[in-house]
This record gives sequence, structure tokens and C-alpha cells, in this order.
Amino acid sequence: MATIHVRNSGETIQKEREVQSFLESNGVFYTHWNTEKLPAELRNQFQLDDGDKAAILEAFAEDIQHLANTRGYRWWDVISLSESTPDLPSLLQKFEQVHTHAEDEVRAIVSGSGVFIIKGKGEVGYFDVFLKAGDVISVPEGNPHFFTLTEEKKVVAVRLFVEESGWIATPFEDPSFIRN
Ligand SMILES: [Fe+2]
Repeated sequence: MATIHVRNSGETIQKEREVQSFLESNGVFYTHWNTEKLPAELRNQFQLDDGDKAAILEAFAEDIQHLANTRGYRWWDVISLSESTPDLPSLLQKFEQVHTHAEDEVRAIVSGSGVFIIKGKGEVGYFDVFLKAGDVISVPEGNPHFFTLTEEKKVVAVRLFVEESGWIATPFEDPSFIRN
């Protein structure tokens, strides 16, 4: 279950219904997948070969197809990041810049954890969404955000795209962004 920290107000949101309605009111889609579908040998496995990635996509095939059908995604893949990822610190530094995309950014966390920092609507300002295995989020097209790892520094996630070029990040300069 995701939890939220609102940077301006310092507020923390933990109750499932409140998390859901906060995200909804900020235009962020959120749902949950059952990670028990993940084969036992792939749980807590962060160094994945192509066969492992294919097995993950197969395990969640129904969920992926459902999202694709309801939200228009046409491509998907699996990414993994951990301390064994070459140049992880510089990769994270690159990630941690507020940016936008020309389509939704969808991540389904399969193992480990991650954080999306998202610009909310109106006075809400930036908020952090802490995601655990099973959490699925979609940041809307054009909405400033970035993704990074939590303290444990490991994640496996399924990404879904409408266009392959949807991946391109456009930097978003924002004087109201609070780095904490
Ligand atoms: Fe992004």
C-alpha cells in the first residue's frame, strides 16, 4: 500500500481510502496488483536476465492486458535497479530532476520499493508517493514529477507506454519545487 508525504504541509497520508482519494483528486491513477503471482524464485531478485523479465511479464499478463485495454498502453517492459546496477548514484542523480512526458508514466512495482515525487494540483504543491510491491501508479501526461529509489535502493517494476517515444523526458524548471 502506498503512503503519501505532502512537502508543503508536512502531512502524511496512510489510510488506503485517503491515499486513493488524494491521488484521484490530483489526477493520479492508482491501483494494486497481487504480487503473489510472482514466481517464488523471482521474489526479491533484483538482477534479472531476459528470461526472468519475460517470466515477470507472463506472471502479470492479465493485469497488464487489463491496463492496456482500459488505458491504451501498447508497449511494456521490466526494469530493475539495485546497488549492483552500474553507476547507480549517477543514474539516480539524473532521475532526480523534475520533468514531464508526452504521455502517462506508468509503473507497477513488482519487488522492492520506489518513490514518485509529483506536483499536485493548485495549492497542494509537491508530494511524495512511497510505493511498495503491488502498487501501480500512473502520473498523467504533462504532470511534473520524478522517480527515485527509497533507502533500500532496489526495485523491479513493469513500465507501460502508449508510444515508444513516450519515454522522452522534458525538463521542468520550477522555482516552487522544494528539495527536502
Ligand atoms: Fe518520468
